[in-house]
Amino acid sequence: MALYNSPMKTTLTFLLALLSLSSYSSDLENGKYMFQASGCMNCHTANRNEPLAGGVKIATPFGNFYAPNISSDPEFGIGKWSDEDFLKAVKRGLSPKNQYYYPAFPFSAYTKLSDEDVLDIKAYILSLAPQKKASLPHEINFLFRQRKLMFFWRALNFKKGHLTSGEMRTFKYQGEFKPDKNRSEEWNRGAYLAEAAFHCTECHTPRNKLGGLKTKQWMGGAIFDGNEVAGNITSHPESGKGNWTTEDWTLFLESGELPDGDEVSGDMYRVVRNGTAKLTEEDRMALITYLKDLKSVNRTVKLKESTKENK
Ligand code: HEC
Ligand code: HEC
Repeated sequence: MALYNSPMKTTLTFLLALLSLSSYSSDLENGKYMFQASGCMNCHTANRNEPLAGGVKIATPFGNFYAPNISSDPEFGIGKWSDEDFLKAVKRGLSPKNQYYYPAFPFSAYTKLSDEDVLDIKAYILSLAPQKKASLPHEINFLFRQRKLMFFWRALNFKKGHLTSGEMRTFKYQGEFKPDKNRSEEWNRGAYLAEAAFHCTECHTPRNKLGGLKTKQWMGGAIFDGNEVAGNITSHPESGKGNWTTEDWTLFLESGELPDGDEVSGDMYRVVRNGTAKLTEEDRMALITYLKDLKSVNRTVKLKESTKENK
């Protein structure tokens, strides 16, 4: 059975899947919906008048990253990309020339998106105006400028997909979303939205020194962008959101308002405004079903005083 999990087999499966998609005709409306849910705009747009022309700085312990121009422009954006190029980038973290992307691009979540949803997103992006603007270079130290080194990050962090709340799974076919047969269809739709599209975990789960997710503390809260606390959203009653009712979650996902009347700001505000607020009622309920079921983690995240002052 050596062939079973081999890269060869994975490549073959991928190519066969591509072949079957060659006659795929995209659904623009679904593309817009999934594009919003996946937050592509949030990272790839610094200036709202130049959508997808490139993003604001993303600060990580490894350096500062700038999401590139992914508008429909053939020169500066992805206008000339084939479907295969796009699928490979979003679901495999590989450039058209097979270079590794940095995990600041959350492909390890998007790898769980269906090929159809990803191609619909591409069709939607291509329907938007092209932006003639060069992408900004990343500000990272010399070592990390070697994209080949991402091999190690990937070996440690990428193939391991995780579907259910915190449980580790190793997928046969990298990270592909596998519904949990023991849960309802609604829960599975919520899991797909949260884990493949919204990538809540990329911001709300703490990371180890190598930038990999500490999956035992799944959604247990983390420092995001150097100076923001993306809190514990597990079902722990004190440190998490265990005492949030369905109504609390609904209000929050629709408007960003917290049960105490406060409002979220910054990156989370964008997740809500551009994403969760635009979900259908059915999808919002599915997401809530999944969120309320997140395994309880007792953990409170605080900013160090020094980082706070820099804010
Ligand atoms: C958390 C921020 C973030 C989000 C959200 C995000 N991206 Fe990106 N994206 C990046 C960064 C950073 C890079 C650059 C990675 C690199 O240089 O290795 C990137 C690179 C890309 C590339 C490669 C572009 C090129 O010129 O090589 C594509 C295509 C892309 N993103 C598409 C998307 C799509 C589609 C979505 C939504 C489904 C999305 N991104 C969401 C941060 C993000
Ligand atoms: C791009 C990073 C990012 C993503 C993606 C993200 N969050 Fe957040 N989230 C944050 C940050 C940062 C805050 C803190 C905002 C603030 O303090 O105003 C936050 C705050 C929250 C809060 C309020 C927390 C509290 O402690 O009271 C909830 C609830 C929440 N997020 C849920 C979610 C859910 C559910 C998802 C996925 C659907 C999600 N987040 C995706 C970064 C993110």
